[in-house]
Amino acid sequence: MESKQIGKQAFDELGRIENLAELEKFRIKYLGRKGKLTVVLRSLKDLPISQRKKVGQETNRLKVELIKTIKKKNKEIENWKLKIGNSKIDITAPGVKLPQGHLHPITQVLLQVEEVFQSMGFKVVEGPDIETEYYNFDALNIPDEHPARDVWDTFWLKTKPERLLLRTHTSPMQAKYMEKNNPPLRIIVPGRVFRYEATDASHSHTFYQIEGLMVDKDISVANFKAVIEEFFKRLFKQDIKIRLRPGYFPFTEPSFEVDLKGGKFKNWLEIMGAGIVHPNVFKAAGYNPANWQGFAFGMGLDRIVMMKYGIDDIRLFYKGDLRFLNQF
Ligand code: FA5
Repeated sequence: MESKQIGKQAFDELGRIENLAELEKFRIKYLGRKGKLTVVLRSLKDLPISQRKKVGQETNRLKVELIKTIKKKNKEIENWKLKIGNSKIDITAPGVKLPQGHLHPITQVLLQVEEVFQSMGFKVVEGPDIETEYYNFDALNIPDEHPARDVWDTFWLKTKPERLLLRTHTSPMQAKYMEKNNPPLRIIVPGRVFRYEATDASHSHTFYQIEGLMVDKDISVANFKAVIEEFFKRLFKQDIKIRLRPGYFPFTEPSFEVDLKGGKFKNWLEIMGAGIVHPNVFKAAGYNPANWQGFAFGMGLDRIVMMKYGIDDIRLFYKGDLRFLNQF
């Protein structure tokens, strides 16, 4: 290759060099013992006299220029390093990950709960936090002045003439869903609910419930028990004991309170209310109670999360304390 061509190639390459290691490689490639320019200079003696002088001068000039430029580039690279050093950026240091948030433990378990119910053929539907008096109470067989209204201490909104409230349970969606959908059906309704009541280790004014409703022909308490036992077995992946106690809800008959024991919880913990759907609830939704039966339940999601992780105070969920939350 002629020295002119070699020169052009060399200066092109030099422009792209970014660090000292590359520069040294470059120097060896052109000026080392077997370097491209060295080879040309060594073979001068084989050239005819007429060309020797011209090629010799050209190549030597190129060599001097290249050595100068390499020195200049060397300084330039050293300067970059200094500048970068002064701005305290070490481009060779490993990257630092920014802290990332994660889902709240209640949300994490809710997603698991939804997955288990979906695997059992239940559809997930949601309703609003603000409800009408009708759906929270009347449609569930709790007319005005019914003593059962006192069971749920309610946050009322200052609205007129329609009386709106923060839903005290997820049950309003039973009525709303049945009005718009025909049986048979299986749904769960997760959501936040609110009660105007004093808080303690197992009671919060704001908490989460998961409503369940299954309507079909010939549904009995045995179906409810089987579904719920299977659900807890799949969710907790261990043996959990279930106890049904007689209870009272205007929208189910018979009604039960369901307690759980197991995992990190040694004592029975009340986890849900449940029962067989009351005929009046079917009637209000437009179903013929002679043709359909169903079971319904409303479980406290917070308490399930407490059981799963052995948490002994529900209020920890709502404090936003990262020392607590980062453990999940
Ligand atoms: C109800 O809210 C009924 N709607 C449940 C129901 C649905 C019955 C369908 C029948 C048919 P209760 O008020 O008992 O029932 O609440 C249900 C569950 O929510 C309780 O078992 C408990 O696990 C949880 N819970 C109730 N109050 C609180 C509270 N203040 N803090 C945390 N969890 C609570």
